[in-house]
Amino acid sequence: MSAPNKSFDPVEVTTLSPEALAGFVADALQAFAHAANLDELKEARLAHIGDRSALALANREVGALPPAAKADAGKRIGQARGQVNQALEARTAELEAARDAALLVEESVDVTTVMPATRGGRHPLTTIQEQVADVFIALGYRVAEGPEIEAEWLNFDALNIAPNHPARTMQDTFFVGNEDSGVVLRTHTSPVQIRSMLTQQPPIYVICPGRVFRTDELDATHSPVFHQVEALVIDKGITMADLKGTLDHFASSMFGEGIVTRLRPSYFPFTEPSAEVDLQCFVCRGASIDNPEAVCRTCRSEGWIEWGGCGMVNPKVLVACGIDPEEFSGFAFGMGLERTLMFRHGITDMRDMVEGDVRFTRAFGLGV
Ligand code: DAH
Repeated sequence: MSAPNKSFDPVEVTTLSPEALAGFVADALQAFAHAANLDELKEARLAHIGDRSALALANREVGALPPAAKADAGKRIGQARGQVNQALEARTAELEAARDAALLVEESVDVTTVMPATRGGRHPLTTIQEQVADVFIALGYRVAEGPEIEAEWLNFDALNIAPNHPARTMQDTFFVGNEDSGVVLRTHTSPVQIRSMLTQQPPIYVICPGRVFRTDELDATHSPVFHQVEALVIDKGITMADLKGTLDHFASSMFGEGIVTRLRPSYFPFTEPSAEVDLQCFVCRGASIDNPEAVCRTCRSEGWIEWGGCGMVNPKVLVACGIDPEEFSGFAFGMGLERTLMFRHGITDMRDMVEGDVRFTRAFGLGV
């Protein structure tokens, strides 16, 4: 930068002379015009209006001028820079348009090209839900649905699950909003039982496959999001024999002719009596029990595999839904679908079912 110039004539500061400025402008405009693409234009921009360009340097000279001269020189350089910027903008627009037009041509897709067909696969969970539905629709059931965001009352209270029941705590349940909101992500498909009883008159024969949520970490055997299928029957004269017969039919439809279930006494607040449902091992059919010669990996030589829960609908639940327990009785059961798939197909890691990798789903074929 020049030293302050007292006896001033701005035209005498060479870089600010009208001729010099006109020359800088002309050079810049020419460089922009010659730039054949946006990269070249960027170079031209740096060279002609970048920090070290002649114009930038001239601009800095203005600062060193006495006030009277500053205005005049500032105006001239301002005009010069304005002209250059305008030219740059115009050329940028032109080159961008050219680039876009070229891209459109280069990237156009030839829809007549024959592509090698790589197919995805339906997720086995989708398939199994349909298989379950088929089994029960053939028996005259209807498929019922309920929302995944559920009223706490339907998810717990109406099912006779007391307010202080451990399953209701933050440890198991995703509350929507805070813990007092009264709204949860359903922790099981059982609230659909209540919805069915509140909206239909008996006889009721429904199944509900669907997604449920619990605050579990994802690991080989748990997932915060998984699937269950629920069944509910309410009719006159329904007994545990109906429950057992239905479970056996379900088991043999899913796992092979002749596969039966076993009930073990248990407790669920919404059924009385309640039982755990075990599935006869469909691989060894019990032959591995106490038999070191015939070790079975599927049931760990126990002969049975835990499958779900069941029972006779608790009269308290019937009453809560406005059904007379003197006139009607019913059964219900529920099981996890991931678990069902895992032992049916020897899947050892729950995460495989969650990750959505097509190499996993494809192994199950289209399954339609
Ligand atoms: N809702 C139970 C759970 O998620 C499973 C269950 C047990 C469902 C017994 C039922 C039943 O319908 O009768 O653990």
